Amino acid sequence: MQTLHVELGDRRYPIFIGSQLQPHNLLAPYIKGRQVMIVTNTTLEQLYLQHYVDALTALDKQVAVCVLPDGEKYKNIEHLNLIFDALLQAGFNRDCTVLALGGGVIGDMAGFAAASFQRGVYFIQVPTTLLSQVDSSVGGKTGINHPLGKNMIGAFKQPEVVMADMSQLKSLPPRELSAGLAEVIKYALLGDLEFLAWLETHMDELVAGNETLLAEAVYRSCAHKARIVANDEKEQGERALLNLGHTFGHAIESYLGYGEWLHGEAVATGMVMAADLSQRMGWISKADLARTKKIIQRARLPISCPQIPLDAFLSYMSHDKKVLNGQLRLVLLQRLGQAVITKTFDVDQMKAAILANQTVNQ
Ligand code: NAD
Ligand code: GLY
Repeated sequence: MQTLHVELGDRRYPIFIGSQLQPHNLLAPYIKGRQVMIVTNTTLEQLYLQHYVDALTALDKQVAVCVLPDGEKYKNIEHLNLIFDALLQAGFNRDCTVLALGGGVIGDMAGFAAASFQRGVYFIQVPTTLLSQVDSSVGGKTGINHPLGKNMIGAFKQPEVVMADMSQLKSLPPRELSAGLAEVIKYALLGDLEFLAWLETHMDELVAGNETLLAEAVYRSCAHKARIVANDEKEQGERALLNLGHTFGHAIESYLGYGEWLHGEAVATGMVMAADLSQRMGWISKADLARTKKIIQRARLPISCPQIPLDAFLSYMSHDKKVLNGQLRLVLLQRLGQAVITKTFDVDQMKAAILANQTVNQ
């Protein structure tokens, strides 16, 4: 097992990364009171819930469970309310712990519930998708969707501890594993050329689910995220770099309808568009762009999206949370392995980068 820390002063917390991790040993020191509410979904309920109920019961905890339906479409206020119902019905107090057992949807919802129940209770993340292990479980962004916008209601809520168990990825559908690899590739492209080379060496084994290499990829990804979050917890600056590919990807996801493309798939094509624009601006070479596309393809991710009318694409991009004072800011590649956030780009070049990476054959 490897351990990293997110250095946030008195809110410093560990990320445990390994296989066959033992929740009773690792989580016990981070559960302050007796009451633990496990929030999960119907899929994880069948796979891993009992293991956690048993471990926490053996620690003499009062364990309650809230099982939500599985899917992004349930990441809303009605289903958030089911978590509050469960907490109140179980008679949970301010020293209770909410434990998220699931992917990013469960982590975001359980975290928001923990941030707001009785003005804030303890929170633990047990991420079970690769995407949630390398991204959503670390850094404290939590929330739900609103009919008018994704992740529009939320709070920052850092967990007490994150426990990422690679053995739980065995049951993850291959498409979901690839979606997580998009976020892994993101860290390499935005800040770590050596990691990119490592991914190029090991991508086939990662796609095949090699647990040792996945643990290394999660460790290296979380190390980047932990450093950036420690520098800029509330996204006043540097943290926005983590949105490489996300502004373009957000437009793809929104136009196609959430659930049609996975978030990681949209981010993958979004990163190609960002790299394409960076190449048009003369920041990276054509060889760098080709290298970017190749690693994304090798992760079994799309490098182009179906045709989307340009005005609709641009309109969705303008709803991005990175728009400040009406001005769109993009995360682009100044060099391969070095991203910047900029509002200085040529709009015609941006349109060309979008159009060049759409295809009619999907
Ligand atoms: P998800 O939570 O929907 O999980 C994907 C699917 O995999 C679900 O059907 C889930 O039930 C299933 N699953 C989860 N673990 C499994 C396992 N071990 N075995 C078998 N099936 C398993 O999707 P996700 O990609 O983990 O997360 C996406 C969500 O995360 C989005 O809502 C997105 O907005 C959010 N997100 C948040 C942040 C953040 O910083 N808070 C960052 C990125 C994404
Ligand atoms: N997923 C981007 C962030 O946590 O800031």
